[in-house]
Amino acid sequence: MNQATTSPSASAKMLLDPYGSWAAGEGVPVVEDFGIDLLAVPTAPWPRLGCDGAIAHLKGRGDFVAIFVIDLPPGAKAAPQRHLYEEVVYVLSGHGSTVIETEQGKHSFEWGPKSLFALPLNARYQHFNGSGRERARLASTNNLPVLINLFHNEDFVFNNPFAFPERLGQSRHLSGEGDFVPVRPGRHMWETNFIPNLAAFELQAWESRGVGSTNIMFILAEGTMHAHSSEMLVGTYKKAHRHGADFHVFAVTGHGYSLLWYEGDKDFVRVDWRHGWVFAPPDMMYHQHFNTAGEPSRYLAVALGSLRYPFTTEKRNLFIGVDVNVRDGGRQIEYADQDPRIHATFLAELAKHGVASEMEQKWKAAAAAAR
Ligand SMILES: [Fe+2]
Repeated sequence: MNQATTSPSASAKMLLDPYGSWAAGEGVPVVEDFGIDLLAVPTAPWPRLGCDGAIAHLKGRGDFVAIFVIDLPPGAKAAPQRHLYEEVVYVLSGHGSTVIETEQGKHSFEWGPKSLFALPLNARYQHFNGSGRERARLASTNNLPVLINLFHNEDFVFNNPFAFPERLGQSRHLSGEGDFVPVRPGRHMWETNFIPNLAAFELQAWESRGVGSTNIMFILAEGTMHAHSSEMLVGTYKKAHRHGADFHVFAVTGHGYSLLWYEGDKDFVRVDWRHGWVFAPPDMMYHQHFNTAGEPSRYLAVALGSLRYPFTTEKRNLFIGVDVNVRDGGRQIEYADQDPRIHATFLAELAKHGVASEMEQKWKAAAAAAR
């Protein structure tokens, strides 16, 4: 039997990380943490993007998703881009516009703080900072890790002429219009490419995730990237639940904190958040969100695997049973079963902010309605 020459083990090609190598080679800061204040992340010139930027990796990001921080100096325009990865862009600060060029023509839309949009797959686009004085900072949550790890070929991902006309959607979806697709609480969808102001978007009741809880599931650019937004009323918190990694949770309005723990843990991990902050609950780590603001607290969650295209069996099962009690084989801890420290901590935190709890009253009302 002929045997090929074997390499010394130190130089053997094994356990490679094509996406990690790509990120390290881009020449911009790569930050990694449990939670990150994206407004405070240092940026550096990013030749590929033609503006400043950074890469943010959350501990709970999973294998598929990364965040790019795109920082446009006053009056700047980024380099035109097209690529085979999907991205959901949330505007952290500043005002500007994005032009999308397809075989059907040019479309442009203007964004500002708390805008949300998705670029159609592999469409050519360019970002512009519309202000001569103010910088603009965008958070692109994307599935580039999947593409680079799958093909190990940057040119294929970033310089590929293939067109996906089915991903362009309706042009009115690029001007801020959309279509409501009613399903049932927690699964109602809004189909569009662009939400001008996520803070003002009308949400739908989803009482089973928490008292007064509201939500909408987005279908953006007919994509596999998922986004949803949820809100907690003043003086309230959601129920704890758990699922697989990669839901990147961005605070949008208000402020508060989240507690996270693995089953059996004695203590909680705590993340405090306000606009600019993002964190991702790691795989099957319980997490619970608390509003301590004198206004509703709203967040945006972005992941790979949308309600329309769940991508993994885990996402499919989650979307079906996200609000089912753990006692019934589901993923959610009901209020009555939660660790008593959770409510006590909430009351103490509310007191620090001079906000009254609405939980007891809402529990009483719910119990009366159930009788
Ligand atoms: Fe969650």
